[in-house]
Amino acid sequence: MKGTNKKQLYFDGKPYDLRVKFVRDIPFWVSQVRKYGEPVLELACGTGRVTIPLAKEGFKLTGLDISESMLAEAREKSEREKVDIEWLHADCRDFHLGKMFGLIFFPFNSMSELHRLEDIESCFSCVREHLKKEGRFIIDIFNPRLNILLRDSTKHYPHSTYPDPDGKGMIEVTENNIYDDATQINRIKLYHKIAGKVEINELNMRIFYPQEIDALLKYDGFTIERKLGDYDESPFKSGSPKQIIICYVS
Ligand SMILES: C[S@@+](CC[C@H](N)C(=O)[O-])C[C@H]1O[C@@H](n2cnc3c(N)ncnc32)[C@H](O)[C@@H]1O
Repeated sequence: MKGTNKKQLYFDGKPYDLRVKFVRDIPFWVSQVRKYGEPVLELACGTGRVTIPLAKEGFKLTGLDISESMLAEAREKSEREKVDIEWLHADCRDFHLGKMFGLIFFPFNSMSELHRLEDIESCFSCVREHLKKEGRFIIDIFNPRLNILLRDSTKHYPHSTYPDPDGKGMIEVTENNIYDDATQINRIKLYHKIAGKVEINELNMRIFYPQEIDALLKYDGFTIERKLGDYDESPFKSGSPKQIIICYVS
C-alpha cells in the first residue's frame, strides 16, 4: 500500500476500540446526515466508531476501509447491535461502487493517511464520481499545531492507556514525533508498554495547512460551502482545533 500507513497495531480492530473512546463528534455527524440526506458513505470507517451510532439513528450507511482487521471488528459489532450496514473492503483512492450518495464523509483525521498529491487527487476523483448533484462531501482534519509538530523528539509524551485485548493488564502508550517539513508528514512513534515489554508502532500523518486544503479542494472541483473549527459548528478561525470542511461538486 504505497503512500499510506501499513498494517499495524495502531489500526488493528480490537485494540483500536479498546483505546479510542472518542464520541464527541457523533452528534455533529447525526446532524449533518439529517441536513444533507442519504445514503451515506463513510471513507476509512475503521471499526464503525461513527458508522454504527449513525445506523442506529435509522440512516442508510456504507462504510469503506482498507483494513480487514478494522472491518472484522465493525462487522462483529454491527451484528451484535443488530444494525444493517454495508461494509466494504476497499481503498478510498480507488473505489467504483456504481451508486450515488447524499453525503460522503471522511472523519477523525483519516485523510492524513493520504500522503501524496496523487493519493489525494484519486480519492477526490472517486468522491466526485459517487456524490449526488445536491450531495455534500465533509472532511474532518486537524488544524495543525506547530508546537506539537516541532516538540522535542527525544522525549516521550503520554498518549493513552487501554486494557490489553489478551488480558495482560493495562497497556500504557507514549509517543514522540519527527515532523518532515518538506513532505508535510508527521512521523509518529507510539510506544506500547505491554507486560514490561515495549512494542513500537509507527504512524505517518500528512499535515494539511488551512489555505492548502482549501486550494486542493478548489482545484479538484469542489466548492466550499462552510468551514468549521470544531464539532460545535463554530466557524473556522485562528487557533481552531479542527478543520471541518463542508463542500459540494462545483
Ligand atoms: C483514525 S482511523 C479512523 C476510523 C474511523 N473513521 C473512526 O472515526 O474511528 C483511520 C482508518 O483509515 C483506514 N485507512 C487508511 N488508509 C486507507 C485507504 N487508503 N483507504 C481506506 N481506508 C484507509 C485505516 O484502516 C483506519 O481504519
